[in-house]
Amino acid sequence: MDAKLLLVMAVRWVHIVTAMLAIGAPFFVRFALLPAATRELDEATHQKLRAAINARWRIIVYVLITLFILTGLFQFLVPVRVEGVLLTARWKEFLAPDKRAYHMLFGIKMMAALAIFFLASALAGRTQGLAVIRKKAAVFLSVLLALAAIVVACSNALRYLPRGSAQVLQIDQ
Ligand code: HEM
Repeated sequence: MDAKLLLVMAVRWVHIVTAMLAIGAPFFVRFALLPAATRELDEATHQKLRAAINARWRIIVYVLITLFILTGLFQFLVPVRVEGVLLTARWKEFLAPDKRAYHMLFGIKMMAALAIFFLASALAGRTQGLAVIRKKAAVFLSVLLALAAIVVACSNALRYLPRGSAQVLQIDQ
């Protein structure tokens, strides 16, 4: 198999696995761990458990954010062409209307992704000023998951650009 194709596949694989972990873990905490711990544990034990989990999870959060940025920017900025087909930075070959749509969706995705990075860091972090976010963890985990749904919807829409008509136009040209 072409080495460039393998690289693109590996980067996309890391990006998707990172997304699975970054969404799956908060989903589990919001709908299983947090309600169970709130009901079953006294406040002191609950806080002790939370501190122990966060000490481990915050390292993973920083690794996941780094992987998102590296693999995401690679797919967005570095054009890799295999057998004449542009596989990454695909927008560079789009016609103007599709390029506009791509950048608009990408902009929405980036704003939502940055908000997710902020919330994930605040929820797992120790910064005193952000303690209010940890105090209302159920609310902010729900916000994080809603933002993740927006990010995945934008990623999905990006994948299906350019639209069929624009592709036909490109072939005709
Ligand atoms: C700095 C942050 C990020 C950047 C720069 C970035 C960039 C990208 C790019 C350029 C693509 C390819 C779009 C295309 O097919 O043309 C992509 C795909 C994708 N991204 Fe991101 N992304 C970032 C963060 C995230 C986050 C936070 C999530 C989820 C929570 C996510 C989930 C996905 C998914 C599911 C795909 C679809 C992969 C596929 O269809 O093969 N990304 N991303």
